[in-house]
Amino acid sequence: MKDNYYFDNAATTWPKPETVYQFMDSFFRSHGVNPGRSGHTLAVEAEQMIVETRRLLAQFFNHQGDPSRVVFTQNATDSLNMALQGLLREGDHVITTQLEHNAVLRTCSHLQRDRGLSVTLVAPNDTGCISCESLEAAIKKNTRAIVINHASNVTGAVQDIEAIAALAKAHQLIFIVDSAQTAGVLPVDMSCGIDVLTFTGHKGLFGPMGIGGMVVGESVELMPTRFGGTGVDSASVYQPDEYPHRLESGTVSIPGIAGLNAAQKWIAGLSPADDHWTACKNAVNTIHAAEMRHSERIWQHLQGKAGVTLLGSLADGPHVATLSFTVAGMPAQQLAEMMDADYHICVRAGLHCAPQAHKAYDTDTGGGAVRLSPGYFTEPEDVDHLLTAVDELCT
Ligand SMILES: Cc1ncc(COP(=O)(O)O)c(C=O)c1O
Repeated sequence: MKDNYYFDNAATTWPKPETVYQFMDSFFRSHGVNPGRSGHTLAVEAEQMIVETRRLLAQFFNHQGDPSRVVFTQNATDSLNMALQGLLREGDHVITTQLEHNAVLRTCSHLQRDRGLSVTLVAPNDTGCISCESLEAAIKKNTRAIVINHASNVTGAVQDIEAIAALAKAHQLIFIVDSAQTAGVLPVDMSCGIDVLTFTGHKGLFGPMGIGGMVVGESVELMPTRFGGTGVDSASVYQPDEYPHRLESGTVSIPGIAGLNAAQKWIAGLSPADDHWTACKNAVNTIHAAEMRHSERIWQHLQGKAGVTLLGSLADGPHVATLSFTVAGMPAQQLAEMMDADYHICVRAGLHCAPQAHKAYDTDTGGGAVRLSPGYFTEPEDVDHLLTAVDELCT
């Protein structure tokens, strides 16, 4: 048995590509200085790496506007907080869904309770999808925005963001997409009509924890919700208007951005092409196909097992590799603990910070479900071991 069989890539991808560890270490040693502040050569070179990473990410998400609108944050939660709080005002109505992560749900609940906004949570249909009809039915006179995840971190179901973008545009609504579960796993194309795209660095983008960001489209202006030093226009008493300084206060994470930089180049290197968007689009399709080969084996195996209930079905439509299941008579947490202790298998049990998604599948009261998320570095033998463990534990 190996030390670990890692099936928790929806929480964070692990391991990272070797070049990510190497470049984080080497760049932090050689250029671990404060970028964008001092004018010395090291600081300028550190800033150049940051500018390059913004440009790579702009192309990665096919953002055709100014790369300065790629703003670094701590993670997707930070980005979603900044986007929702920076765009929405008292009296606004926002539409979101039952499939969201607490990064959206709790932010919306606080805006509702503390800032006089109203929120509608749209339920998924029988196939785990958020239909355009149900979103459209929720639109009111004061609706300002739709915020939705591209893929659920519980069921893996992928939403049709192109169709939802068209709906948002037809009703002049701001469209915010949470790509935490898809960036690096499926192509995410800003140009389909996304106004604000939030991402986290440590999942499919293969960066470290503590770095994330968002791409703010030219169609919206996001008001800053935090203020401070930017290294530019220091005499002004107010935050500068221009991006990224408008939204980036304080010292950014050089190791985090260096990790993302190396990861972008690693992803592009899987499928070299003349431009970064094309290379990465092909590479993430390769990553998705590799992950789905593992996931499909797991779905098929679990589907036929007595006492096992899967949340959704692969036949319902496009999915990422993440899937969740329950076993009759065995609390999810207990199963996860046995998988860890007896088989060295890392999974996540519970509500996965998405309580409403579990409510939609009636798994909110019984301790949630066990989530399995194979990744690009999963080996077929890891899946063999997982399936054996499930068979032995769930007889
Ligand atoms: C769909 C979704 N949105 C947002 C987040 C929050 O990401 P982070 O913890 O990196 O802020 C997660 C994390 O699991 C997620 O799955």
